[in-house]
Amino acid sequence: MPQPAVLTGLGAYLPPRRVSNEELADRFDTTDEWITSRTGIRTRRWADPGISTSDLAVEAGHRALKSAGLVPEPGAVDLVVLATTTPDHPCPATAPDVAARLGLGAPGAFDISAVCSGFLYALDTASNAILAGRARSVLVIGAETYSTILNPQDRTTSVIFGDGAGAAVLTAGEEGQTGAFQGFDLGSDGQQKDLICIPAGGSRQRSQGTAPAPGDEFFTMRGREVFLSAVQRMTESSQSLLDRLGWSTDSVGHLVGHQANSRILRAVAEQLGVPAERAVVNLDQVGNTSAASIPLALADAAADGRLVPGERLLLTAFGGGLTWGSAALTWPDIVPA
Ligand code: ACO
Repeated sequence: MPQPAVLTGLGAYLPPRRVSNEELADRFDTTDEWITSRTGIRTRRWADPGISTSDLAVEAGHRALKSAGLVPEPGAVDLVVLATTTPDHPCPATAPDVAARLGLGAPGAFDISAVCSGFLYALDTASNAILAGRARSVLVIGAETYSTILNPQDRTTSVIFGDGAGAAVLTAGEEGQTGAFQGFDLGSDGQQKDLICIPAGGSRQRSQGTAPAPGDEFFTMRGREVFLSAVQRMTESSQSLLDRLGWSTDSVGHLVGHQANSRILRAVAEQLGVPAERAVVNLDQVGNTSAASIPLALADAAADGRLVPGERLLLTAFGGGLTWGSAALTWPDIVPA
């Protein structure tokens, strides 16, 4: 009998350095009032020089294993799946290094590149590996150091993104167990690939045989178009998953959306008919942490007792690619680390 994937551990890690809106207003032509009213973000964390994505991922992974009651030793998990836009290197993937530094022996380990939807793509992959009987325990990590790809000349992206990592342990469980994943919905639209892009550093730019244009190594985003697509895609994906599961909107305890912008989260909740108080928001403290956003929001809401064991959760995200995705689960009785 296929066994469903159950969430058995959750960990979060934020680098210590806080970067307030006021600090950014000293560096860019912007204000705390503009950032707060347009995005809802008040502060974010940026990693110190020398700290990379794997460093944050190892910390979050360690905490998730602890939360799941697992000792980080060879055989503790069968797979490590790391979602990131900011790998330590273009090659090799960051996940094998993270697995080794966690002392996990020789599990399968690979990165997933789906920008801000990456964590949900990684959860779906992990869940499928468990359902197929290929893995009993999987460590799923979303980790980012966007501070390393932000253009210091671009005030719009520089005020939005933060660094951080979140991780989950998924374990083969039983049907009906609290924490069991109930379903996923994933989608993409490559025709819109230019809305969110790092133009240089890949084979497209290198194949042209010319040096990258100044600034092309940094993250670029067409904000207004991204905003509209994000609302539409997250709403449609969420509704499609709810319909497939036969869940009414009223039955959803909390909506945990990708923490991109509080106005986007409000619009998605409104269009789905989820009351604002049931939409988890923590971006005021961490900004948009891309692939780390969903696990950080879950850990935050769990830590202050907002999530009740057994309640239904709807997760939804949107990112470059374009990609989007949603996941449904019941909240388990776990203590995030
Ligand atoms: N401070 C002050 N003014 C600014 C700033 C800033 N930091 N950034 C932009 N502006 C200005 C613009 O230059 C523009 O000025 P203009 O009218 O003179 O041309 C004005 O503010 C309005 O710009 P808009 O882009 O229309 O502002 P908007 O209200 O749309 O907010 C924002 C911009 C916050 C970027 C919004 O579009 C947004 O949140 N978009 C979605 C971003 C997002 O979620 N990205 C992540 C997706 S997930 C992923 O894969 C990474």
